[in-house]
Amino acid sequence: MKTNALAVSRRTKRQLDSYGVSGKIYHAEIDPLIAVIDLHKSFKSLEVLKGVDLYVKKGDVVVLIGPSGSGKSTLLRCINQLETIQSGDVQFEGSSIARGPVDINQMRQRIGMVFQHFNLFPHLTVLENITLGPRKLRKISQEQANALAEQLLTRVGLLDKRDAYPNQLSGGQKQRIAIARALAMAPDVMLFDEPTSALDPEMVGEVLEVMKDLAREGMTMIIVTHEMGFAREVANKVVFMADGTIQESGVPEKLFEQPKSERLISFLGKVL
Ligand SMILES: Nc1ncnc2c1ncn2[C@@H]1O[C@H](COP(=O)(O)OP(=O)(O)OP(=O)(O)O)[C@@H](O)[C@H]1O
Ligand SMILES: [Mg+2]
Repeated sequence: MKTNALAVSRRTKRQLDSYGVSGKIYHAEIDPLIAVIDLHKSFKSLEVLKGVDLYVKKGDVVVLIGPSGSGKSTLLRCINQLETIQSGDVQFEGSSIARGPVDINQMRQRIGMVFQHFNLFPHLTVLENITLGPRKLRKISQEQANALAEQLLTRVGLLDKRDAYPNQLSGGQKQRIAIARALAMAPDVMLFDEPTSALDPEMVGEVLEVMKDLAREGMTMIIVTHEMGFAREVANKVVFMADGTIQESGVPEKLFEQPKSERLISFLGKVL
């Protein structure tokens, strides 16, 4: 009884602290799934994020662009709790995940991440790479995990590689497996940090196709990429970062065709 009262009071406190444009209680249709609020992040004396605000609603596909060193990866890592922050907040469904206490493993299941380098386990087969997380963290049986993995392999077009080892795959195939592995945790949002930059040009397309499919299916995604054509096609919001701040953001047509700041004009001049 006492425990219940404590749980209720904690929940109420969290709701009071929470962001929510519609009030104090989280509403998925109105409030952002992820809210980054005045986020500051430093590595020792180097301030890398200098007050970043970003709101991502369910189903949004947000593409982050900007010059090297502007803080794009750091922002994704702060969202996924791979970095601690100095001030501000990161909220998920209206509750702070940066200021704890949160179950970090549970949070990482809900926020999937795919990196430039695939980080597949070399000693495990494709199937084992995909089923490891669901079996350990989602506690599903071997049969269920295998069925899920096969379904995801079909989705990324690689069912025939089920029993292969990562070193028997091309870069594009490894990255599609990395995406399937992240999806196996049934995340609410997927973060991608330059998923195609380490790939040979002819393999970029197959990975982008998988991501386009995800976008079409309504997956919420935050993507750091230099693929501007892809950004224009799938993003509903493009965010331009430079020097640790968001300089400009908007729908792709507006950002690419009517850039306002000199920084963005010069950046687009180099990448388009
Ligand atoms: N662990 C770390 N320790 C110290 N400095 C770091 C660390 N991680 C990143 N930085 C610094 O933070 C700044 C932002 O880095 P970040 O990787 O977020 O940039 P980025 O926008 O992703 O760049 P790129 O396009 O090259 O990937 C850089 O100056 C970088 O050197
Ligand atoms: Mg980066």
